[in-house]
Parts: sequence; C-alpha cells; structure tokens
Amino acid sequence: MGRWAEEKHTYVTMYSKLFSTGMKNKWARRVYVELHAGSDHSRIRETAKLIAGSPLYALAVDDPFDKYVFCERDNDKVDALRARVLRIRPNANVSYVQGDCDDKATDIVANIPSDSLSLCFVDPYGISINFETLRTLSAKRVDFLVLLAVFMDANRNYDQYLREKNFTVDRFLGSNTWRESGALRRQMLFRFRNSLRGNLRRVWSYSGTSPPRYTK
Ligand SMILES: C[S@@+](CC[C@H](N)C(=O)[O-])C[C@H]1O[C@@H](n2cnc3c(N)ncnc32)[C@H](O)[C@@H]1O
Repeated sequence: MGRWAEEKHTYVTMYSKLFSTGMKNKWARRVYVELHAGSDHSRIRETAKLIAGSPLYALAVDDPFDKYVFCERDNDKVDALRARVLRIRPNANVSYVQGDCDDKATDIVANIPSDSLSLCFVDPYGISINFETLRTLSAKRVDFLVLLAVFMDANRNYDQYLREKNFTVDRFLGSNTWRESGALRRQMLFRFRNSLRGNLRRVWSYSGTSPPRYTK
C-alpha cells in the first residue's frame, strides 16, 4: 500500500467514531459493513512500516458497533482477519462473507439485522464495484462511505474503458448513458464525475438518508 493508506484509515476511523457514538442511543443496533475488508495488516510500500487494516480501526472505536460484517474475496485474508479479530475483540459479533462482494451482495444484506442502521465502507480497487451491489444493500438502512480513485483509474484505463465490449464503467454507474458524452478525455471525466454523483444520490435516497455534501 502507498502512504495514502494512512490518510484513508484516518478518515475511516473518524467516520466510524462519529457514526458509532452519534447513533448509539438512536438505533437499536449499529452495524459496520466492509465490502473489501482486506486482511489484518499491510506494509507501506518501500518502508518497513506495518499498518492495521481498516476493519481493525472500526473494531477499536470507543462505542463499538453491535455487529460487524466483513466481506473479502481472498480466503487467506479472511482467515488472517478472523484470527486477528479473535485476539483483539473476542466478544465482537462478526460475520465474514468470503467472496466477491458483487456476487455476495444478497448474503451481505442477509447478515444485516432489520432494526439496525449501518455504516458501509466501500474500498475497491479503482472503479471495480457494481452500482447494483449498493442498490442491493440499500434494502437495509445503510449509509455508504465510498472511496473511489475515480480520476486516477479513469485516466489509466481510459482506452480500455472506451472499448465497446468493456462494461466496467456501465457496471460501476449502473447505466450506459455515459458513452453518449463523446470521446474527449475531459468530457468523459466530467460526465463520469456527474454520473457518479447522480447515481450515488439515487442510492442514498433509497436508503432514506440525505446525500453528504461533495467537496470536489
Ligand atoms: C484496497 S484493499 C482494502 C483493504 C481495507 N479496506 C483496508 O483499507 O485496510 C482491497 C481488498 O479488497 C479485496 N477485494 C478486491 N475486490 C474485491 C471484491 N470484488 N470483493 C471482495 N473483496 C475484494 C482484495 O482482496 C483486498 O484485500
């Protein structure tokens, strides 16, 4: 991982604390969900420094969540995370969903109690998350914290994404209308960003919560 991972964890910790403490007397149960949980620790690239994974920060908040749901594609990482959680929070109520979160969305929803409010951290590589997954999760009351390296990914994979038979952006946005915006990079990125905002607004309105303010 790059050094930015530490900044990411600062934000996840901040949101988790705000959510878990702020909602503790308002909801019967608060649930923390991660779709790309990772393992327990990662090393910062080109250094010897090890940092804990985001699930461990969410487990360590002052007012722990009533339940945690961790989805991770890699079986070994799930085992490592399970072992670490048992060591640091043996009494935590944790469900592990092993597999691709886009395939396992229904299983993830099934692990969220109906009387709860959830914070769901979405931390994919690039834009490799299907909008349909967020829509499925919105069957429960869920606030989403979505980290997307949108511009970096769109720039790097621009030529690939534009190919007619490549559906990555379609799946990400839950729509194919972005293709109508023309081939110029600037135009695509502009459209890309606005489509993203529009789609996330739709998800937030499904879950009955207000969309947060955008800073960029
Ligand atoms: C960017 S890391 C996230 C790590 C963790 N959120 C953290 O900050 O410590 C990505 C992790 O997501 C997993 N992953 C990638 N795509 C996935 C998918 N579609 N479903 C579930 N896990 C996925 C990878 O195996 C990897 O462990």
